[in-house]
Amino acid sequence: MKSRPTQVIGIASGKGGVGKTTVSVNLAVALQAQGERVMLLDADLGLANAQIAFGTPCPANLSHFLAGHKSLPEIIVTTRSGVKLVPGASGMQEMAGISALQTASILQAFSELEDELDYLVVDMAAGISPSVIAFMRACPRRFIVVRDDPSSIADAYGTIKVLIQDCNVDEIYLIPNGMSSQQAGQQLHERINQVCARFLGRSVGYLGTVEQDELILSALKKHQPVLEFAPGSGGSRDFRRLADATRQLPAVERASGELQFFVERLVGQVH
Ligand SMILES: Nc1ncnc2c1ncn2[C@@H]1O[C@H](COP(=O)(O)OP(=O)(O)O)[C@@H](O)[C@H]1O
Ligand SMILES: [Mg+2]
Repeated sequence: MKSRPTQVIGIASGKGGVGKTTVSVNLAVALQAQGERVMLLDADLGLANAQIAFGTPCPANLSHFLAGHKSLPEIIVTTRSGVKLVPGASGMQEMAGISALQTASILQAFSELEDELDYLVVDMAAGISPSVIAFMRACPRRFIVVRDDPSSIADAYGTIKVLIQDCNVDEIYLIPNGMSSQQAGQQLHERINQVCARFLGRSVGYLGTVEQDELILSALKKHQPVLEFAPGSGGSRDFRRLADATRQLPAVERASGELQFFVERLVGQVH
């Protein structure tokens, strides 16, 4: 029997192309390798690419589920790593275009998975549209991926600001990505954290840094997570550290269970 509820983690960045999918996929694989039971929900319905990063053929995806042609268990695939994947759909309207009933049915199905999962990692779409914010609010813990460039920093800050001011939420951790060193990542976190403390009156946590590693790009070209493609690489080391840090965070606990909470929050927000 499980000792704690499923931990639900939303991964966002504001800006696209900074590494949300890379972090989501490799963090999921690293957690699974450490003995956790992990599912990744690709919540990007515009440009779903988690399935490409895993290299797992997906005969059906969320669009088939939403159209009522498949059940959730029928669209879930198990990747080579053992991580379960709920494939997103490409070219669909974003989540905001989906009715509350459809959203309810997606997520209702998740609450039945509570006993089977230790972690649910949610890979968000880019931007801070109402649907992304709704998803992020529904996740009790959030990791913001940020690169050391002005537009990524501005977008990460914008995402944090909306979450803190409009939703009054805590549990936000930064993951600097594509950095030259761990120290440079820590410094980037300090810079952003100072701005958050000064202007938002809140601080954001630091989870760990992923350094720039060309093998991460090579792995994607081979449709493999870097942990599978190059387990000895710096990138793989960084993702294992992120998984360690994630597992050391205190569990977020609620009587109703995390997945159910996630469902209730989402269904209550997306219209
Ligand atoms: N630490 C890194 N080192 C090298 N390349 C990276 C790193 N993180 C991400 N990338 C590359 O950057 C590109 C965008 O990453 P992706 O995860 O798809 O971003 P997002 O999901 O935020 O749009 C991909 O080609 C990916 O391989
Ligand atoms: Mg992505």
